[in-house]
Amino acid sequence: IEKGGFPHFMLKEIFEQPETIKNAMRGRLIPATGDVRLGGLDMTEEQLRDVKRILLIGCGTSWHAGLIGEYMIEEKTRIPVEVEYASEFRYRNPVIEEGTVVFAISQSGETVDTLAALREAEKRGARCMGICNVVGSTIARESHAGVYIHAGPEIGVASTKAFTSQITVLALLALVFGRLRTISSSEGQKIIQALMRVPDQVAEILTMHEEIRKIAEEYYHHNNFLYLGRGANYPVALEGALKLKEISYLHAEGYPAAEMKHGPIALIDENMPVVFICPHDNAYQKIVGNICEVKARKGKIIAITNEGNSEVVEMADHVIYIPRTLDFLYPILAVIPLQLLAYHIAVLRGCNVDQP
Ligand code: M6R
Repeated sequence: IEKGGFPHFMLKEIFEQPETIKNAMRGRLIPATGDVRLGGLDMTEEQLRDVKRILLIGCGTSWHAGLIGEYMIEEKTRIPVEVEYASEFRYRNPVIEEGTVVFAISQSGETVDTLAALREAEKRGARCMGICNVVGSTIARESHAGVYIHAGPEIGVASTKAFTSQITVLALLALVFGRLRTISSSEGQKIIQALMRVPDQVAEILTMHEEIRKIAEEYYHHNNFLYLGRGANYPVALEGALKLKEISYLHAEGYPAAEMKHGPIALIDENMPVVFICPHDNAYQKIVGNICEVKARKGKIIAITNEGNSEVVEMADHVIYIPRTLDFLYPILAVIPLQLLAYHIAVLRGCNVDQP
């Protein structure tokens, strides 16, 4: 009953995403002016305007969300953003200057490395915020302020709905900082309209569940997978590979697509499935070139793209379509098929999906 009719918590949580993404935005959007209200930040407009540098810290999937946040926030606000593994940050001598704000990203709010990194940053005088799911968790309590993602309990060990909610909140943060700097009211309105369409677009992708299961059937016996993306979709490639490793015990690597030629290309032959995250964004033409390189080496191509991208469709062995959105919001949509692919491959291999 707890699984709501789904065979695993992971699948249930993947299917909850249209709702959980909505919950991450609920009561926070002001469509008429293109603004976002994040009361939990507890900062005045003047304090927000004084922020000179943002540091995002986390582990695993939360770190991947941070990498996407870096693309979103730098692009929309021009504030320099750095992303660091909490497990590295806590053991080195990090530079925290005046005007640095640290966001600790953690679903559970209890990850020891992230908590220790937060404490280190606080000791050095940074304003520290949590981006957590679990209300009242240690990181949420120990940070100066923060933003809850409101994804509800995540029972499956593989993080899915928390990831898309973390990215959604990071997009909202980009709007909060951006509207005080570089984003006009009309651009803010456009972004909010696009954000409000995301839950339905995720629901649309979930209807391709069965097609994705069939793709998994074709590939579950392979031992290695490569995931490639460019720009904000490069961390999506990392996340797709992590999900597969974590629950199916297969070797998978995520790479920036353009880096493939600097080494990993040597691995590509007819036994290497390569998952390309290639929506029609500003990196599209470049990634088409990377797909050609894989095709020339007879790699098997699974492409996540939009309807109408004929170059990709002609070269790919399998195509999974996602709806169109603004470039910087594609990661929220593109990760959904990768979660389903990892889930089905793990199930077909007889793995314990919820507790790997
Ligand atoms: O609870 P947290 O977000 O702090 O957890 C961090 C990582 O341990 C976590 O995201 C891990 O990588 C996931 N299980 C991956 O699916």
